[in-house]
Amino acid sequence: MQIFDHTNELHDALGEERLAKRSVGFVPTMGALHKGHLSLVKKAVAENDTVVVSIFVNPTQFDNQQDFDKYPEDFERDITLLKTASDNIIVFAPKKAEIYNGEITSKTFEFKGLEKVMEGAFRNGHFNGVATIVELLLNAVKANRAYFGEKDFQQLQIIRALVAQKEMPVEIIGCPIEREPNGLARSSRNERLSKTTRTKAGFIYEVLNTAKKKFGMESAGYIKDWVSENFAQQQLFKLEYFEIADVKTLTPITKKQKNKKYRAFIAVYAEEVRLIDNIALN
Ligand code: PAF
Repeated sequence: MQIFDHTNELHDALGEERLAKRSVGFVPTMGALHKGHLSLVKKAVAENDTVVVSIFVNPTQFDNQQDFDKYPEDFERDITLLKTASDNIIVFAPKKAEIYNGEITSKTFEFKGLEKVMEGAFRNGHFNGVATIVELLLNAVKANRAYFGEKDFQQLQIIRALVAQKEMPVEIIGCPIEREPNGLARSSRNERLSKTTRTKAGFIYEVLNTAKKKFGMESAGYIKDWVSENFAQQQLFKLEYFEIADVKTLTPITKKQKNKKYRAFIAVYAEEVRLIDNIALN
């Protein structure tokens, strides 16, 4: 395991890999690693000669200072977990000043409206922050392949659009959502939930699964109302949004069209922790 916090050290190590024509896989993370991250790392290890994992809690993608302050961090534990995937991983853990080169601000991006809906509508500036850091990291690592989880499906589509827009020679690979035994999508933020709430949060996935079953028979509008009514009936989870959207444009719909692929997207508050999830509907 090699651990670097400076870009030039990373470049030196990767220069040797490139000279030897070895492929590089990249998994960007904000640390607080869990089995979801590990599944991306294992896939990257299986598909590439060398793997870089970055650990950097990116300040510019947080629209809420409290969420940033409370974001879980445990570097030693992250390294121990990464060693279970491979001993040969290169960890890149830059300081803010190193990666942002002085000014810690986002650039402004446009992705044909992908950035305006759902997470974009509720988290002001979030995707500008994500696109800014992902562009910086992809330029620093220059990997052949980069891996992102489908739990952040909107983020994944935006990163695909970013890479196309900037003509970056990297293949973006989306990886399936990993779930806790009760169905709750794995997330670093789950650690902030009480044990009882974490157990009961399987409810979110149950609702998504039922929405999927209803999707063949009912209209999108009907399903949206059904989900709202379901959440209104219990106190632990507060629904922020539930949308059914076209997977390509991410435009929320109320009426489906034939030959289009749809996904349901949800954002929920539980004990002031914001949880998101999504499911393929057809
Ligand atoms: O998905 C994440 O953990 C972050 O948004 C990412 C892609 C590492 C950028 O900070």
